[in-house]
Amino acid sequence: MLVLGIETSCDETGIGLYDTEAGLLSETLHSQSALHADYGGVVPELASRDHIRHTLPLIRQALEDGQRTLDQLDAIAYTAGPGLAGALLVGAAVAESLALALDIPAVGIHHLEGHLLSPLLGDQPPTFPFTALLVSGGHTQFMAVHRAGDYALLGETVDDAAGEAFDKTAQLLGLPYPGGPALSDLARNGDPLRFSLPRPMLHSGDLNLSFSGLKTAVSLLVKSHGPEHHADIAASFEKAVVDVLCHKAEMALAQTGLSQMVVAGGVGANRRLRASLAERLASRGASVAFPPLRLCTDNGAMIAYAGASRLQRHGLPTHRAGAFAIHPRWDLQDYARG
Ligand code: KG4
Ligand code: ZN
Repeated sequence: MLVLGIETSCDETGIGLYDTEAGLLSETLHSQSALHADYGGVVPELASRDHIRHTLPLIRQALEDGQRTLDQLDAIAYTAGPGLAGALLVGAAVAESLALALDIPAVGIHHLEGHLLSPLLGDQPPTFPFTALLVSGGHTQFMAVHRAGDYALLGETVDDAAGEAFDKTAQLLGLPYPGGPALSDLARNGDPLRFSLPRPMLHSGDLNLSFSGLKTAVSLLVKSHGPEHHADIAASFEKAVVDVLCHKAEMALAQTGLSQMVVAGGVGANRRLRASLAERLASRGASVAFPPLRLCTDNGAMIAYAGASRLQRHGLPTHRAGAFAIHPRWDLQDYARG
């Protein structure tokens, strides 16, 4: 089965071409970060318009790179939510119209399912069941993944997502958008033990997390310390986030009795998180799998893969003649049940 995947939920236009026999054939991506940089965050209307500009050319490029033609497609998968309404509408409209024209099914995918299954596209894919840590700009959740489509929420952030905390803290440090990678680069030159920052909810006894207090603590430090201390602040902040995530990851494995942790989402690209989790989980005989770096952040490959997996599980739906809905807010469990 050959599936085209379209991701337009936020500020990346991502296209992927996945074949259930041959694997991932191609992927194309356009990041809007330069477009939004002047505003310090994603401007939804600009995001939608930019998706309109890039979706079709990127589809053409992905087909060319994968040496396939439109008429060879069996289905089109697109991110139907959660995300920015206007941005989601672009991907949904393109996918549904193309599917209608080609007389093939289109399937709406939950963005987080894409992230959760993305490690399966790596060279050493994890096997089910596993515990997942989903750390993106919008979500921070621990999940038990028994199989594709079966996701049990174990705990989540009660306020900011980890990526959001990175982005907001980066902004406090005067770093360019998107803040996560910039903060992590700055932290490389800093001393992570220089400032003692809070580890919110470390001992809450459950798998919930909180990051907003950490951001407040950083804002106080920034007021009392000049730019020459920013690298140390960045490193200390990064270490605080990573320490909490590692501690709760160990708890999640203990709670589920599973020995595999899979990390997905943009913050999964963070070097310190990757190194610390690998070290700490190895010391307790557990393994950790990360998607390849390029598949941590938003991309079309994970949507194509999630689409193929869903179609294999549920069979090809009969086409609904272009009727579609997007879900800017969407519960993963509701989606998985539906
Ligand atoms: O998964 P993603 O691309 O989009 C969402 O679905 O939210 O994640 C984006 C988030 C942003 O908050 C970004 O700052 C963060 O992931 N991020 C990082 C790194 N690379 C991306 N955070 C920390 N360190 C990184 N290297
Ligand atoms: Zn994402």
